[in-house]
Amino acid sequence: MRFLITAGPTREPIDPVRYLSNRSSGKMGYAIAEAALDAGHDAVLISGPVDIDSPHGTKLICVSTSDEMFEAVHRYARFCDVVVMCAAVVDYKPAEVSPNKIKKRDQRFSLELIPTRDILASLAKQDRQFLLVGFAAETEDVEDNARKKLRDKSCDLIVANNVSDARSGMESDENEVTVLFPSGEKKEILRAPKKIIARELVKIFSNTREKCLTKKV
Ligand code: C5P
Repeated sequence: MRFLITAGPTREPIDPVRYLSNRSSGKMGYAIAEAALDAGHDAVLISGPVDIDSPHGTKLICVSTSDEMFEAVHRYARFCDVVVMCAAVVDYKPAEVSPNKIKKRDQRFSLELIPTRDILASLAKQDRQFLLVGFAAETEDVEDNARKKLRDKSCDLIVANNVSDARSGMESDENEVTVLFPSGEKKEILRAPKKIIARELVKIFSNTREKCLTKKV
């Protein structure tokens, strides 16, 4: 199967030297790409700026802004069987990007922000052949919020993780996730290094994609 995985944060420019971003390290997405390759699949990795090397054998597409990630995902998704949206896409971007460095003044300063385009939701709206997987990084009511996201964004699976625990989520080497299915079923993957979690996730994704294919035949 051909996997497309998004990973890392996006950066939304404020002026030529500043941007809005988040603490995503890209480790989970890169581990999923590696696990997909190890399982004999192909992997396209669309990555925001991170400090880790891409697994040998991946097709790596480097992007910076959410708009660049949107374009790249739409370019490659139609050639893939499983699309895993692991990236922490920044939710808001400055309404305007200043062409010059904004000067410091001794006054309050506010920045007008507008929502970025939701890449996951935009893919779900399309007539598609691929299995669409979202991630939900939550700090409270993890499962309820993730179920809401699964419904609102109309994806096929959602992987929920609690990022309020320093041992899981964003910059950590470990994670603990629950995979939620639209049927109400769920699969919990206990705390483990992200590379181990990634292997389990790849198995779940490829099995679910197989089942969808069998149903369609
Ligand atoms: O930010 P949020 O919790 O809504 O993200 C949930 C899922 O939606 C993640 O899979 C993320 O990659 C995706 N997302 C996206 N485009 C955005 C925001 C989030 O594809 N602008």
